[in-house]
Amino acid sequence: MMFTLEWFNEILWIDSMPRHKIFVTGDSGQLGSQIMASLQGYQLISASSHDFDLANLRALSEKLDSIRPDIVVNCAAYTAVDQAEQEPERAHAVNADGVGVLAQWCAHNECYLAHISTDYVFSGSKPLFECYSEGDATKPQTVYGKSKLQGETNIASVEGLNYCILRTAWLYSASGENFLNKIRNLAESDPSRELKIVHDQYGSPTPVRALARQIQVAVDEKLHGLYHASAGGYCSWFDFASAAMQQFGIECNLKPCSSEEYPTLAQRPKNSILCNRRLADNKLDTFLNWQDELAAFSNA
Ligand SMILES: NC(=O)c1ccc[n+]([C@@H]2O[C@H](COP(=O)([O-])OP(=O)(O)OC[C@H]3O[C@@H](n4cnc5c(N)ncnc54)[C@H](OP(=O)(O)O)[C@@H]3O)[C@@H](O)[C@H]2O)c1
Repeated sequence: MMFTLEWFNEILWIDSMPRHKIFVTGDSGQLGSQIMASLQGYQLISASSHDFDLANLRALSEKLDSIRPDIVVNCAAYTAVDQAEQEPERAHAVNADGVGVLAQWCAHNECYLAHISTDYVFSGSKPLFECYSEGDATKPQTVYGKSKLQGETNIASVEGLNYCILRTAWLYSASGENFLNKIRNLAESDPSRELKIVHDQYGSPTPVRALARQIQVAVDEKLHGLYHASAGGYCSWFDFASAAMQQFGIECNLKPCSSEEYPTLAQRPKNSILCNRRLADNKLDTFLNWQDELAAFSNA
């Protein structure tokens, strides 16, 4: 092969082409920090919630005007599911109103929006172990779920917006506040202590690393519309905790219990199993089964 001057100049030109600018929100969170670490091929800009507040609608537009992104990956959200029951206005301001303004700005500025939503938009009353796909009727039972669903609606109703919404579930990561880290810390601090874990709620545990991989595909391909995006298969919280502690080699004393034995302010869906039908139809589903994702997470 001949390496001509033209060939060399072309490579230099490609390398110096302006890369699309992505604004990643929620960079201190589980998913946002993973996206900042792993998204490839773009210029990444993020802002912490201190200088970017989704609930401050005017400041939000000003921030976007100052960054002028080509793409927004919105990982920011009000995620305190129980607390939301006591401050619904705040949850709606962030997850619904703020997201609506974000969507409007993106539409007016030809900016692609990748937004993350949740399995909690469903009631959870579907018979076990049928999974929820994108066409299933939503009926959130919690303030958090309602605010996230309104956020989805606010996005989908903006004319001319190029967007995707990825509904995911049961996120976990090595750092951050999540179920897995809580169980791990408790088990490590006292292996003999009995830990009761709910065994009648089913879902699809999904490591943020796997979701970030799927978001990369969504952004590269500019997927349009609503997609479910969780690891394959399903288990209960008890199954998940048992498999994870075994995988990590942590001795512990886990006991299954019912949701009634572990009451929470917000009632969790019994069935929040998602199936990634649209991703699979497009041959773009990058998730493994939840056990394989857990093994990959543990070995990373
Ligand atoms: N965690 C799950 O199991 C789960 C399941 C399904 C769907 N999801 C969705 O997945 C996405 C990512 O969740 P995650 O687990 O990464 O959440 P997370 O760890 O709780 O992080 C949320 C991020 O949003 C930021 N934030 C909160 N309020 C904000 C506001 N008013 N303005 C700007 N930023 C704000 C937080 O900043 P501060 O840290 O400074 O507050 C943090 O960076 C969310 O859309 C969530 O609804 C999560």
